[in-house]
Amino acid sequence: MSAEVVKVVMPPSPAPVVAIDGPSGSGKGTIAHRLAALLGFEVLDSGSLYRLLALAALHHGVSLDNEAALEVLAGHLDVQFLQNDDGEAVIILEGEDVTTEIRSEEMGRAASMVAALPAVRAALLQRQQAFREQPGLVADGRDMGTVVFTDACLKIFLTATAEARAERRYKQLLEKGFSASLPALIDDIRARDDRDINRAVAPLKPADDAIVLDSTRLGIEEVLARVMREVEQIPGLQRHIKS
Ligand code: C5P
Repeated sequence: MSAEVVKVVMPPSPAPVVAIDGPSGSGKGTIAHRLAALLGFEVLDSGSLYRLLALAALHHGVSLDNEAALEVLAGHLDVQFLQNDDGEAVIILEGEDVTTEIRSEEMGRAASMVAALPAVRAALLQRQQAFREQPGLVADGRDMGTVVFTDACLKIFLTATAEARAERRYKQLLEKGFSASLPALIDDIRARDDRDINRAVAPLKPADDAIVLDSTRLGIEEVLARVMREVEQIPGLQRHIKS
């Protein structure tokens, strides 16, 4: 009887994910993009999907509490994430460039309403997980470490006081040409925190294995340096660091 050679094919290991969660204005978007550039990874801005769904609902006259209709819309969301010639992100919804439009406070508020609906979150789950590709992903959101990528090799929870976050948002909005009022932004951030923290599904909270970083008194460079210190401890990430 001849000995059979059994070839064992190991499944490829999934791409590494760094999850960066936290409330609005904590700086996670900036940190996610800077970190992704340092690692050569892609970025998932999961909040943009909820913002896009809210905008699509507006376009189609779907009410922000119509869970069944929003679930269908979420399942068929016609979105393209592109880059322009300058390498800047461009987001196309149903053929229209909505990159700036989805960043308004109104769309953020509407996003947090649709994001509280369980069927909407379920409908967007796979779409988010599909962003996981080699060489790796930096995922920015509220539930990246707790729900979407529970096996992320590094989980950061970035936070700051509501006042500090509102002030940052105020500056960002003015820079982007939107008008804004600081007291209204503080109220709005508190209301959004309250909705995100107290919703029944995927509430905003640090994963048990997340590293919590309070950025109230830190600049972006300091936060990035602290995150990089954590990245350097993870063997699966170390080798991606670009000098
Ligand atoms: O991060 P961003 O401000 O773009 O998110 C908009 C809203 O989308 C958040 O206030 C939150 O309610 C919701 N969101 C979420 N889960 C995510 C990302 C965003 O519920 N992973």
